[in-house]
Amino acid sequence: MGPEIMAQAAKIVRWLKSNRDLNIDISEVEYGESYFRKEGKIISEGGLAQCDAADAILFGSIGGDYVTQVPPDEWGQTRLTALRKRFGLFANIRPVRPFPELYEASSLKREVIDGVDLIIVRELIGGVYFGKPRGIERTPQGCRAVDTQVYTSEEIRRVGRVAFELARSRRGKLCSVDKSNVMETGKLWREEIEHLGKTEYPDIELTHQLADNCAMQLVRRPGQFDVIVTDNLFGDILADCAAMITGSLGMLPSAALADIGENIGRPALYEPVHGSAPDIAGKNIANPLAMILSLSLALRYSIFSPRHAELVERAVRDVLARGVRTKDISKDGVDFVDTEQMGDEVLASLSGC
Ligand code: IPM
Ligand code: MN
Repeated sequence: MGPEIMAQAAKIVRWLKSNRDLNIDISEVEYGESYFRKEGKIISEGGLAQCDAADAILFGSIGGDYVTQVPPDEWGQTRLTALRKRFGLFANIRPVRPFPELYEASSLKREVIDGVDLIIVRELIGGVYFGKPRGIERTPQGCRAVDTQVYTSEEIRRVGRVAFELARSRRGKLCSVDKSNVMETGKLWREEIEHLGKTEYPDIELTHQLADNCAMQLVRRPGQFDVIVTDNLFGDILADCAAMITGSLGMLPSAALADIGENIGRPALYEPVHGSAPDIAGKNIANPLAMILSLSLALRYSIFSPRHAELVERAVRDVLARGVRTKDISKDGVDFVDTEQMGDEVLASLSGC
């Protein structure tokens, strides 16, 4: 359902260009299943070059059964994780801030999620997603599959610094998450983050949690967190878990960055945390708000226009306050709108913001 939700974000960015002096050039690149069905690959060379040249890439969710048909070489070079690597996007920012209008949609109690405002900083181009050796050995006796979790000091420090900087711009608290009780990479992770805290960020209140405990704390008392920093795999899992604080995976945006602030580098990549949901694709029922909120992150971090980012966020909030809901965030039996209508409702709210 990537194209369906992207169409809604595209409406909004065009509207901002025409009506609110947003001064950016937009180009569109086809990626994923539709392109693959026509051309046998998931992105064209020209499309990749367009991405290379951009400041920010707004990326619709991808996935589905077709990926098994993509030739392994092609897949290896242009799959989402490969693009993250290509652009050096080591820091994935996943903010979790429930809208009070949606407290009812969360599976957690109102008093547990009230006022939660946390950010998960996930290391994005290292760890077990990329470690070598990797593969499945097939022998007559059976198979053996290997993945490798590996981190260097430098990989931990650079994502650590992004997390410390974010904490400094917020409430000054950082919780680093690892499995140092069982993993060597976890021991190094804790050592490096601890060292960074002592030497470069003594003003930040640094704590550590084991990943399993953090999963529990996220649903027990998420209000304790300001910024969380963790590795690629734990970050993937904990972000989905934390998404339920907002009521739906359809609400969570993310930014993949090669640094932050003035050093951000380019291109950065902005995408919803959720996947492509093949079960509801093509039905015009997906929630486009995570996609739209990803646009607002792009406006904030890459376009350096907090004014436009806030406009989008305010419009989303206004839509929710008016009771407009897609299926995933509506109560049973209550009317809901489709993907396109939700996009139009955000546009309507924007005009009034
Ligand atoms: C995410 C997704 C991706 C990941 C998949 C689609 C490769 O789950 O961005 O969280 O595991 O990183
Ligand atoms: Mn994920």
